[in-house]
Amino acid sequence: MTKRPRIAVVGSANVDLTTFSDQFPKPGETILGQKFNLGFGGKGANQAVAARLCGAEVFMVARVGDDLFGPSTIKNFETLGINATHVRQVTGASSGVAPIFVDPSGQNRIIVVKGANDELKPADVDAAADVLKRADCIVLQFEIPLETVFYTIQFARQNGIQCILNPAPAQAIDLQAIAGLDYFVPNETEAEAISGMPVRNLDDAKACATKLLASGVRRVMITLGANGSLLAGSDGMEHVPAFAVKSVDSTGAGDAFIGSFATFLGEGLPEREAARRANLYAALSTTGVGTQKSFYDRARFDVEWSARGKG
Ligand code: RIB
Repeated sequence: MTKRPRIAVVGSANVDLTTFSDQFPKPGETILGQKFNLGFGGKGANQAVAARLCGAEVFMVARVGDDLFGPSTIKNFETLGINATHVRQVTGASSGVAPIFVDPSGQNRIIVVKGANDELKPADVDAAADVLKRADCIVLQFEIPLETVFYTIQFARQNGIQCILNPAPAQAIDLQAIAGLDYFVPNETEAEAISGMPVRNLDDAKACATKLLASGVRRVMITLGANGSLLAGSDGMEHVPAFAVKSVDSTGAGDAFIGSFATFLGEGLPEREAARRANLYAALSTTGVGTQKSFYDRARFDVEWSARGKG
């Protein structure tokens, strides 16, 4: 029987306000958009939801605001079967929000206002220690304070827990702070911002991964959108191709990749196989509108995998 992974996400929760538009306004201009979608998002929450829908047992550690969005975000986790004991409201703070603009090709532009996400502190990681120590894997992103991210990496290392860091949105960091990390998973833009090297094609991605590995990270996976992903470690590098789909909204595809990869890896699949499945899971998420709403559950994913995953 497949092992059911226990995954903890220490990360952000936002509400996504997504506008679909053929064009974007110039300064001082008002234009009409085509469609609007309101949904739960935030890179941490999205990764937690992807892992849960793929079948993992999931624990969320997050902060939400004392506004309308706070209680509904907590309720959303509970409805999905995610343990939200350590998701708390912060008095006087707004919830994280993300106005998102999607063009006709499905590409997005996102502005995140972090709000209560900025109040998730190292002390909150200590407060959740009992839950975190039971996890097989801890997943982190950059929508919470960096001091909390680095503290959690140390916590994971001290307790022998696998740790995956998605450095999104991109921020320049001292790579020493993440030395010894199990998985560092940026997209091209994030890899560029953090390494200082251009990442425009697979060869660039390989050069960038070499630099990141030299800084002491154990495994690097650079997600390459429609080009799949690059896996890199001291044993070499491998390109894992993408699956072709008709994309309508790419928002959250990177989160779908990470949450599903953590689950497939936790089930005991070899890394390359976990990455192949995560590539398909992420691609499928772009065929629907919205962020968490567009994620497949495991039964729907398995149907697609049976049809397309051979080879
Ligand atoms: O990765 C997509 C996510 O980025 C959105 O859900 C938005 O909230 C921002 O965090």
